[in-house]
Amino acid sequence: MPTAKIRVKRFNPEKDRKPYWADYEVPYEPFDRVLDALHYIKWNVDGTLAVRRSCAHGICGSDALLINGVNRLACKILVKDIGTTISVEPLRGLPVIKDLVVNMEPFFDKYKQVKPWLINDDPTPEKERPQSPEQRELFDDGTKCILCAACTTSCPVYWTTGEYIGPAAIVNAHRFIFDSRDQGGQERLAILAEKSGAFRCRTVFNCTDACPQGIEVTKRVQEVKRAITVGGI
Ligand code: SF4
Ligand code: F3S
Ligand code: FES
Repeated sequence: MPTAKIRVKRFNPEKDRKPYWADYEVPYEPFDRVLDALHYIKWNVDGTLAVRRSCAHGICGSDALLINGVNRLACKILVKDIGTTISVEPLRGLPVIKDLVVNMEPFFDKYKQVKPWLINDDPTPEKERPQSPEQRELFDDGTKCILCAACTTSCPVYWTTGEYIGPAAIVNAHRFIFDSRDQGGQERLAILAEKSGAFRCRTVFNCTDACPQGIEVTKRVQEVKRAITVGGI
């Protein structure tokens, strides 16, 4: 069986003064993913390795990591596709709790700022709130978001200014701003017009490249900027 060298950036704040690289020689099958390699290390070599994952099938968004310098989901990347030496690091821009596990609270705090839920004060209709396919198409892209944080933590503006709300929050605001059933669009646009909002984006495109769901993140951010500039939706 072939083997790959998996280089893991490890850090235990209870005993390490700074992060360090640990190398592991891991055997792999043709369809093993980076997550399988991390499981191999944790279950067979060193049970103290901390890694977060849940579904293992690209749904929950909990195992976004910096893999060979690019943000990706460990459960969606095959070992054989990215070489025989693979570096794995925690996401940038979020505090490390231990090894590959970061504190997602700052990310979710920014997400919550845009009120990512349906706002509609009309009386609840007896049946559904109708919507045409064309109206749905306007926000469909953002509904695919799994809140993995790969976009926001690949954005250099997010790393350098702790203030920027980040592309994931903007995508999730977009999902409701352009939903014909929602009435909170102007409120969200006002939040995103603030100095921590959408105009912090410098169209670097790292976010679009990082998104495991193929969401056109930069395009969605630009649509929000345009809506703010024209004074609404
Ligand atoms: Fe993850 Fe894509 Fe959602 Fe960003 S937009 S949080 S990269 S799924
Ligand atoms: Fe950052 Fe994406 Fe804009 S990487 S600068 S949010 S295009
Ligand atoms: Fe759920 Fe990878 S473990 S997305």
